[in-house]
Amino acid sequence: MCGIVAYVGRKQAAPILLRGLSALEYRGYDSAGIAVMGERLSLVKRVGRVSSLAGAEQLTGTCGVGHTRWATHGAPTEENAHPHVFGKVAVVHNGIIENADVLKAECTARGEKFSSETDSEVIAHLLNFYFKGDLLAALKETCKRLVGSYAIAAMGEEREIVLARRASPLLVGRGEDGAYAASDLSALSACQTVYALGEGHFARMTEDAIRIFDDGGKIALKPLKKEEVEGLPAKGGYAHFMKKELMEIPASIANSLENYRSFAQNQAFCRVLCQTEYLTFLGCGTAYHSGLCAKYAVERLARVRAACHLSSEYRYLNPIVKRGELVVAISQSGETADTLAAAELAKAKGAILLAVTNVGYSTLSRIADFCLVTGAGREVAVAATKSFSAQLAVLFSFAADLARLRGMGERDLGNLPVLAERTLAASEGTKAWTGAFVHAKNVFFLGRGADVATAMEGSLKLKEIAYLPSEGYAAGELKHGPLALVEQGTPVVAVMTEKALAEKTKNAVHETAARGANVFVVSAFPPEDGLPTVEIPEADEAFSPILAAIPLQMLAYYVSLARGYDPDLPRNLAKSVTVE
Ligand code: F6R
Repeated sequence: MCGIVAYVGRKQAAPILLRGLSALEYRGYDSAGIAVMGERLSLVKRVGRVSSLAGAEQLTGTCGVGHTRWATHGAPTEENAHPHVFGKVAVVHNGIIENADVLKAECTARGEKFSSETDSEVIAHLLNFYFKGDLLAALKETCKRLVGSYAIAAMGEEREIVLARRASPLLVGRGEDGAYAASDLSALSACQTVYALGEGHFARMTEDAIRIFDDGGKIALKPLKKEEVEGLPAKGGYAHFMKKELMEIPASIANSLENYRSFAQNQAFCRVLCQTEYLTFLGCGTAYHSGLCAKYAVERLARVRAACHLSSEYRYLNPIVKRGELVVAISQSGETADTLAAAELAKAKGAILLAVTNVGYSTLSRIADFCLVTGAGREVAVAATKSFSAQLAVLFSFAADLARLRGMGERDLGNLPVLAERTLAASEGTKAWTGAFVHAKNVFFLGRGADVATAMEGSLKLKEIAYLPSEGYAAGELKHGPLALVEQGTPVVAVMTEKALAEKTKNAVHETAARGANVFVVSAFPPEDGLPTVEIPEADEAFSPILAAIPLQMLAYYVSLARGYDPDLPRNLAKSVTVE
C-alpha cells in the first residue's frame, strides 16, 4: 500500500524523506511527494516512481513529510498524490476514509475548495478547520470525525510532526539527529530506538522528543526489540530482491522451524492443541495458499477436520464458529485489512486466535491469543517467496505436533532446509523453459491434493510478476471446462509430489498434450516421457509443497525477466494490503 515518512531534526529533511521513500517504494508506487517546512512550506509531487522526485532534495527545511501512493480513491495524478496541503497544514495518509464524501460536503459548504479526488484531502481540510494553535489537539478532533482506517502524519508551521494511527501501521523512531516516523521499518534505518504506535495512539514529534498518547493521555511504549529493528535488507549482490529472497528460502525454513520449536513450549498453547477438534485457516493470496497446504497436512497427518477460507470472503460469510475453535490467521505482514477483519470476527464469535505472521509487532500479533512468528526475515519483493516457505514450515510443524499429540506418530521436518537448498539448485532449470512462456496467451498449473494449492501459488506468482493469464487447477477438473482453453503451444505445468496421485495427474497431462499443450513437470519422481522436468528431492509427502513451490516461484521470476518486467515491483500491486 502507500508509504509514509516524516522527519524533524537538525538535518535537512528533503534528502532524508527521499531516502525513506525509496526504502518504502515496494509498498506502493504510482506517485510520490514531499512537503518540507523551512521559511515557508515547499511541496513537490510527481506521478511515477520516487526517482521522479529528482531535484526535490534541494528543498530547504528541517521538518517534513513524504508519501508514496498506491491509488485507491482517484487516479495516479499529481493532484491526487500526497502530501495534501490546505491552509496551514500538510498531510500524508495511508488507509481509507469511508465517510470522506460526507465530510467533503461539510467542508465544501464552508466554501472550501478541494484540489484532488482523494479521500485523504479531507483530513487536511478538517485539520486546518480544527487548528487553534495546537496541531495535536486539532488532529485528535479530526480523528473523531473519521470513519475508516488511517495512519496520518501532519505538519503545520511549527517544527513538529503530529501522528495518528487506526488500523494502519505507523512507527516512530529516535535517531541521533532527530525524530523519524514511517509506516514501515525500512525507512527507519537511521533510528536507534523504534516504537510501533498502537490502535488509537497519537504522537507528537519534535527535534528532541517523541511523545505518545492514547485516550487517557501520555503513555510510555516499549521500544521494538533489537532483532526486530535490525537486518535492514540490501540486495546483497543479486539483481533483484526476489532472487535474493528465493535464495534465502533454506534459512527462512530453518529459522521458522526453530521458532516453532520455542513456541511449542508454551503450555497454554499445548492445552489448546490437545483440545482442538476443528481448525480454520484464514489468509489472502499466498497466505491463503499456505492455509490450504496446512489444511491438507492437518487432515492427512492428524485426522483433524480443517477448513481454509479467503479472509476477504470469511469476513462476510457470517461464519459458524464453535466456542473454543482454533482459528489460524496467516499473514506475512500482519497488517492485511481483510485478514485482520476476519480474525477479529472469529475472535468475537468465540474462537481462539492463533496468528502466523512474519512481523512480531504487527496488528495481527496484537489481537491474537497466540502469535507464532515466522523466521523469513524482512521480505522486500512484492511477491511472497521465502515468507511462503516460512509459513509452511511453521504450519507443517504445527500439523506434525497435532498428530504427535494424538498418538499418530512423529514426523521429522529437520531435513527440509537442506532439501530446499537442493530444490533451489534444480529450479535454475526453469530458466530454460521461459521461451515457451514468453508469448503464451494463458498457462495452466495442474495438480491433485496438496499439489493443487502449490499449482495455485505458481499461477498467482506468474500472474503477479509476469502478467500472464494463468490458472492453478485441480487436474481432474480440467475436462469439465478449462480444457477448451488448451491449444497448440499452451504451457501446462504439472505438479506431482504424491505417488498415489501422480498417475492420475498424468492422465490430465496426456489430455492436454494430445491437444498441443507444451507440458512441463515439477515432480518428486524421476522424469518420464522425456518431458522437461524439475525433479525435487523426495521428502515426506505431507510437506512436499514447501519444495514444489520453489521451481514455480523461480519460473515466474525468469518469465518476468524474459518479458522485460521488474519482478520486484509488479504493476498495480503493493506489498501489504492495508485497505479492504
Ligand atoms: C503474492 C502476495 C500476496 C500476499 C497477500 C497477503 O505474492 O504476496 O498475495 O500473500 O497480499 O499478504 P499478507 O501475507 O501480508 O497478509
